[in-house]
Amino acid sequence: MTDLHTHLRERLLAATTQLGLARDAAEPLVRLDPPKNREHGDVALGAFQLAKLAGKAPPSFASELAAKITPDDVIESATAAGPFVNFKFRRAALARAVLTAIAADAAPYGRSPKNGQVVCIDYSSPNIAKPFHIGHMRSTVIGNALCRIHRHLGTTVHGINHLGDWGMPFAKMMTAYMRWGNEQELHRSPMRYMFDLYKRYGVEVKNNPALDDEAALHFKALESGKDNQERRMWQLLRDESLKAFQGPYSRLGVTFDHVTGESFFEDKMEAAMQRVATAGVLENSDGAQVVWLKELGIKEPCLLRKSDGTTLYHTRDLAAAFWREQQYHPNRILYVVGAEQKLHFDQLKGVLTKMKEEVAAAVEHVPFGLVLSKTEDGKWEKFASRSGNAVFLDEILDEAVAKVRSIIREKNPDLPNADEVAEQIGTSAIVFNDLKNSRIKDVKFDWEQMLNFDGETGPYVQFACARLSSIQRKVGVPVPKPEAVDFALLADAERVLLVMMEFGTAVQRAAEQSEPSIVTGHTIALAGEIHSYLRDHYVVGAEPAVRDARLLLVDCARRLLTTGLWLLGIPAPERM
Ligand code: ARG
Repeated sequence: MTDLHTHLRERLLAATTQLGLARDAAEPLVRLDPPKNREHGDVALGAFQLAKLAGKAPPSFASELAAKITPDDVIESATAAGPFVNFKFRRAALARAVLTAIAADAAPYGRSPKNGQVVCIDYSSPNIAKPFHIGHMRSTVIGNALCRIHRHLGTTVHGINHLGDWGMPFAKMMTAYMRWGNEQELHRSPMRYMFDLYKRYGVEVKNNPALDDEAALHFKALESGKDNQERRMWQLLRDESLKAFQGPYSRLGVTFDHVTGESFFEDKMEAAMQRVATAGVLENSDGAQVVWLKELGIKEPCLLRKSDGTTLYHTRDLAAAFWREQQYHPNRILYVVGAEQKLHFDQLKGVLTKMKEEVAAAVEHVPFGLVLSKTEDGKWEKFASRSGNAVFLDEILDEAVAKVRSIIREKNPDLPNADEVAEQIGTSAIVFNDLKNSRIKDVKFDWEQMLNFDGETGPYVQFACARLSSIQRKVGVPVPKPEAVDFALLADAERVLLVMMEFGTAVQRAAEQSEPSIVTGHTIALAGEIHSYLRDHYVVGAEPAVRDARLLLVDCARRLLTTGLWLLGIPAPERM
């Protein structure tokens, strides 16, 4: 919240108290959002819930409230419009509050102090021994952004990579390797080799279904806990996979606080199963153990143990939920996993709910859509590489970087650190494109669109940052202290300032709704507004007082764009 918002909130709470509402009850209902239409005001309050609390109709409550907010040295006006109240701030107060806070790196522009909340974010979580595919890239970049957004707000974050390093998919891989693989080949190009073996398994199992029985036996041997061939193989394939994943992770600037994959729960599943049994919700079904969830509107039971005694993906997620609860005491556990796993997470939450476990309320699936690519005849379909095989993320990143490198060669051939910049812009273009629209929508993977320097793209926002840096270099005088600036000189920068002011609300809403696209949208809006402001407001060559005021504005815009991009996991180059 900015100082402006804090001031307005205080005034509103004083007013709601006068109107007979208890402060405690009113406080959470005072939510200030950008108005639908800027003409109406700078911030808006929807009075629905407050009116309900007061037992009045929203429009009449809104007018009573508006009448109580008389102008002061920060608030210029308050007007009711139907069930909403719109507020306008005084221009000089707006400029002073926003720019002073950004320059001081004060919250919400800088990181908030600890707020006592804890969030676990389960993201990326690829299956080992398989290529890191494009769906995992979505989970990786959305989860990474959510970690940064929550941390910015002062929440304690546990970023968790719940690697798929256990269970049948992995057992199939191992079966293939034991039948047809050899270690020398493996070390040459581990991920590709493993993937080829996995594909071969897929082909051969069609004619030889007994392969699946073999895989089940290998999994059982692995789960026996003995130090055997399976366990050594598991270790080798896991190590190689982690090494390979580190490539895209470091290129994307992604880190984890905990890499606790499915295998980590090997020795924690029995206790979890006990807990389910004790809760009295576990049932037998042909020798398997399940929890029925019909009363929660979920038709399919949650299978927790197969009839051969082995455990499943669900069993490990259940053990993981208990572990996280006990270790981290989270208010929320976000599972950033594709929408196709909706049933899985409904069931997980369902089992915990039926068990009356407190942690049930914390479990939140954060689903997202597919990545689509364009076919030859211009249709959009699920992403696949040209050869029709799975896609290695590294190759996609390489392609993006190569394309940007050639754009730079054409547009700015003298750029000194061109390779480094191309890497930053190329990878960011993909990340930005992924985080641009609400996550549940499918992402269209269109090179031309995402690399367009004039579109709503990563390169566009990065370019705005670089442009602001370049103006600062050209001005050649240091950025003035806010105390030294005459804010009245920035009266015509109100559009830039209003967007800046909305940063805190944007970050807050992004965290609440697990929607990094709200931050992405903010960076696009700010880049757009500062570009248009600079179209007819010179910094270099303006007379000193004006130059200084504008220079502060430019510096603050650059800082805020850099922070916004950082929250998305995207670097802001100084030159490009
Ligand atoms: N490894 C899974 C997959 O590739 C995703 C795991 C998501 N996290 C979880 N706790 N289930 O589909």
